[in-house]
Amino acid sequence: MEKSNLSAGVFGLSYDKIDKLIEQHDTPLFIIIRERLIDNYQAFRSFFPGVEVYYALKANPHPYIIQVLGEIGSSFDVASLQEIQLVLSHGISPQRMIFANTIKRKKGIRFAKDSGVSRLTYDNFDEIGKMARVFQGASVILRIKTPSVGSRINLSYKFGAEPNEALDLLLKAQDAGLNPIGISFHVGSPCTNVENYIASLKLVVEIFEQAASKGIHLHTIDIGGGFPLQVYQTKNIKVSVESMGKILTPLLLEYFGRDCTFVAEPGRSLVGSAGLLISKVIGRAKRSGKNWYYLDDGYYGTFTAIPFDKSVFEFYTFKDESEKYPCILAGPTCDSVDIIADGVLMPEMQLDDLVFVPNIGAYSWASATTFNGFEKPKVILA
Ligand SMILES: Cc1ncc(COP(=O)(O)O)c(C=O)c1O
Repeated sequence: MEKSNLSAGVFGLSYDKIDKLIEQHDTPLFIIIRERLIDNYQAFRSFFPGVEVYYALKANPHPYIIQVLGEIGSSFDVASLQEIQLVLSHGISPQRMIFANTIKRKKGIRFAKDSGVSRLTYDNFDEIGKMARVFQGASVILRIKTPSVGSRINLSYKFGAEPNEALDLLLKAQDAGLNPIGISFHVGSPCTNVENYIASLKLVVEIFEQAASKGIHLHTIDIGGGFPLQVYQTKNIKVSVESMGKILTPLLLEYFGRDCTFVAEPGRSLVGSAGLLISKVIGRAKRSGKNWYYLDDGYYGTFTAIPFDKSVFEFYTFKDESEKYPCILAGPTCDSVDIIADGVLMPEMQLDDLVFVPNIGAYSWASATTFNGFEKPKVILA
C-alpha cells in the first residue's frame, strides 16, 4: 500500500507514528498496539458478559501486555513457575491466576502453593498424587478431551482426560485431599467452529450431573481459549468472537445457571491483532529466475509462528502495490530453512524497504529464538 493509504484504520497506527518509531528504534520492530489490546479485551468482555477473562500468557508474555491487561482488570492463565513469578512481579494478586498446565513440575506446584495461586488444572491420575503431596486443599479443575473439528492446532491430543474417566478423576482428587471445583477444556486454536464449544459444554453438563450424584458440587466452567483473532479488517473473516459470544453466553446460563463461575482463557484473540511487526529488506538476490528478499527477522525469530503455530501472514509494503510478482521472503540467518514465504506476491522491493506484518501478536515473539546471534525484535508499546 502507498504511504497515503496507511491510515490509522489499517494497522491501528498512523504513518507518522510508525515513521518516528522506525527512526528511533530501527527494525525489526515488534509493536504492541495498546489501543487494540484494550479494545480486544473490552470487546471480549462485552461479547461474553459474566465470563471472567484469564489471558493465556503463553500467547505473548511480554511485560507490556501483562501491564496493560493487568491494569484493565484481566486475570491470567499461567503454565509454569516462571509465568507465575512474571505475573506476580506486576503486582497482580495470585487470586487472579489459574495454573492451567495439566502436567506441572513439583517445584511449580510448590511455588503456586507458597505464592497463593490456589486453582490448578489436571487431567490424569498421576497429577493428582503430585498435587496432593505438595498442595493439600488445592482447588482443582479437571480438563477433559473435547472435539477440535476444524481447529488448526489440536489441544485435545496432548491434553485432556477422556470424559468417561472424569468422575473417577474427580472422586480420586477428592479422596486425595484436593478440592475439585470444575471442568475445563480447550477446543483447539484457533477455532472457528462454535459447535466444538457447544459439544464440549454438553459433556461438561453430564460430568456436573455425575459428580453431583456422588456429592461433589462443581461450580466452575472453564471454556479455555481458541477464540479467533479479533481483526478490524481482513480478507478472510468467517467467524467472529462476537458471533461465538452470542451463541455461547445464553447456553452457559441455560446449562449451568447464574450461580456458577464461568472462565475463559483467550490468548490469540486478545493479542493477535495487537501485534505489528516491521521488518526491513537487508538483502536481495535472483536465484534460478526467482526474486529473493532477505528480511531482518525470520523463521527463527518472530516467524517461529509458522512452524509452531502453523500461522500464515499477510505482508504489506509502503510501495505502489498495483504490480506484484511472486517472490521468496527469507530471514537473516545462515540457515536454509529460514524461509518465511515462498511464492508470495510482492511489489518489486529495494534494500531498506519496509515490510509490515499485521496480526502477528500471538505465538510469535513468545517463541522467537536468537539463533545465529540475531536478537529478537525490539518490542515497543505504542
Ligand atoms: C490451557 C490453555 N488455555 C488457553 C490457551 C490459549 O488459547 P488461544 O490462544 O487459542 O486462545 C492455551 C493455548 O494453547 C492453552 O493451552
